[in-house]
Amino acid sequence: MDLKIVLLGPPGSGKGTQAERLTRELGLAHISTGDLLREAVKSGSELGSKAKSYMDAGELVPDDLVIEMVGEKIRGLDDGYVLDGFPRNLEQARDLERITEVDAVVDLRVDEEELVDRLSKRRTCDSCGAVYHLRFNPPEREGKCDRCGGQLYQREDDSEGTIRERLRVYRENTLPLVEYYREKGVLIDVDGARGIDEVFQEIIDRLKERD
Ligand code: AP5
Repeated sequence: MDLKIVLLGPPGSGKGTQAERLTRELGLAHISTGDLLREAVKSGSELGSKAKSYMDAGELVPDDLVIEMVGEKIRGLDDGYVLDGFPRNLEQARDLERITEVDAVVDLRVDEEELVDRLSKRRTCDSCGAVYHLRFNPPEREGKCDRCGGQLYQREDDSEGTIRERLRVYRENTLPLVEYYREKGVLIDVDGARGIDEVFQEIIDRLKERD
């Protein structure tokens, strides 16, 4: 399948969770700029050392770094993909258009207090990247990944102060993309405040409707 999907939505709205399911269901590649940047930080690459301070503070990493990283990934793919966390401002959206057209942009809507709750109780596997929530999607064994047995950790940017800053950055930079894509006729608005399965089913149904 060569569907090209963008997942919009604030931090904690479930982009990573839904991207993982969509890529499995539809046979698409998953491009998460957050994951790619965290890998770069972990590997100690030049990109990682430039990106780290912005990520720790909840700010956007400079566009030129992110755009180059995404462009390289997309050009290396033959089939479709889910873009998770990109674009995040108008400049990135325009750059994306120079590389490729997108078929659908899914916006996950969730209110802010729920987002803070989701992020402050999120745990991530340090080995395979699987994402859990202590209440909504807990691991079977405390602190261990169900999938690979890896250690679960709390992301550095998931402290309450940094979460609030990420939400502010989202409102200022990324929220305007909702109208931008609505005007282009590719926006799919989804109520992301329901259970993970329900949200997933609605995305699949709405993607089918547009065929
Ligand atoms: P990134 O990793 O992209 O973080 P984010 O956008 O803040 O999004 P999150 O990963 O925090 O949340 P999510 O929407 O994926 O939610 P999740 O599925 O995990 O970016 C991190 C940083 O990298 C940025 O701050 C920036 O510095 C930099 N960066 C990245 N991209 C960039 C770009 N394009 N330009 C510049 N800088 C960039 O779910 C959250 C929690 O909720 C989990 O615990 C999950 O289990 C739970 N959950 C999910 N869905 C549900 C549900 N329906 N009900 C209940 N719980 C749920």
